[in-house]
Amino acid sequence: LDNGLALKPTMGWLHWERFMCNTDCDNDPDNCISERLFMQMADVMVKEGWKEAGYEYICIDDCWPSTHRDAQGRLQADPKRFPGGIKKLADYVHSKGLKLGIYADVGKYTCAGYPGSLGYYETDAQTFADWDVDLLKFDGCYMDWTLLGEGYINMSKALNKTGRSILYSCEWPLYEWPHRQPNYTAIRETCNHWRNFNDVYDSWSSLKSILDWTASHQDVIAPSAGPGGWNDPDMLVIGNFGLSHDQQESQMALWTIMAAPLLMSNDLRNICPRSKELLQNQHIIDISQDPLGKQGYLSAKVFSFEVWERPLSKNRLAIAVLNKQEIGSPRGFAIRAVPGWKICNPQCNVTQILPQYKEMGVQTPQSKMMVSINPSGTALLTVTPISSDFKMQKLHWQ
Ligand code: GLA
Repeated sequence: LDNGLALKPTMGWLHWERFMCNTDCDNDPDNCISERLFMQMADVMVKEGWKEAGYEYICIDDCWPSTHRDAQGRLQADPKRFPGGIKKLADYVHSKGLKLGIYADVGKYTCAGYPGSLGYYETDAQTFADWDVDLLKFDGCYMDWTLLGEGYINMSKALNKTGRSILYSCEWPLYEWPHRQPNYTAIRETCNHWRNFNDVYDSWSSLKSILDWTASHQDVIAPSAGPGGWNDPDMLVIGNFGLSHDQQESQMALWTIMAAPLLMSNDLRNICPRSKELLQNQHIIDISQDPLGKQGYLSAKVFSFEVWERPLSKNRLAIAVLNKQEIGSPRGFAIRAVPGWKICNPQCNVTQILPQYKEMGVQTPQSKMMVSINPSGTALLTVTPISSDFKMQKLHWQ
């Protein structure tokens, strides 16, 4: 969507996977969906280096509203859980130098059964703009699928009409795929990012299913990604309960290769130092935010390895090699087996970013370089070609 937003994949935090629809503030005040949760998360984002690392949007998902609209037909936040209201929360988040996201649905109800926006697109867009909200996640439950496109386009227009810059995160293709192949040109014109596939869960099998779906549809979806619009494989679940550290590295590496929005869903108030370090790894974030803005793709399967590549600016290449064998020991992979290795002719400079940072030095097409990859782990590398011109210049200088 050409609204000047999401020129690079969005970075931030979204409550859904970790906190879901927990509305029980009496018994679980620390984890229920309430203004307190978002204020605490905003505080930590600033204090613990998240904002500095690039994470900017703090996003509310489903279950925030009251079950009824007000007398003017406007959505209102649940008064018990958001006593200050959303506008005050937005002010607080802005005072920390962060941005606030909110959630609504194109149909009659949200997926969790709260009031949907069908019939209220202009009212709701205006309400969110009046509250100074910066991002809208627009879900697709309880909607006749033949009207999805119209609904998402109308909400996009309604947001534009408010005059406020509101990043527009859609789930249009996810709800259309069961019926027909979505029109990605129209989706890109309408949305800043869009979910294609099932919700992520805190498990390796969930991540594998998302990667498999993305790889098998990459010819259709990857070309539509670029500055202003991105495919969204759903939240980062790093720092929770279900993934080994190697699997967390795999999610970080592969989401980066996919040029995915990096929206974490975890508890930043209580996260293990290794997960934090991984999520704040500046080398990885640099790849995610690369100015070329191209989405990567699965380029080869070699034994149990999957090779993913993402073209970067200045003719560089990011390579992720995922070891899909989940048992046994670390396995070695000869990096010259990667299809993109041809950019290393006559020479290139290789840097390993995961599992640990290592300059691998100058390599050639015949390189014997091996990387060792743990079961369900990923090696992430960048390759910078050294042109023969440059080599000759260097010779000349010496
Ligand atoms: C759908 C979406 C999720 C989340 C829930 C909320 O399942 O895909 O990301 O927003 O609804 O109910």
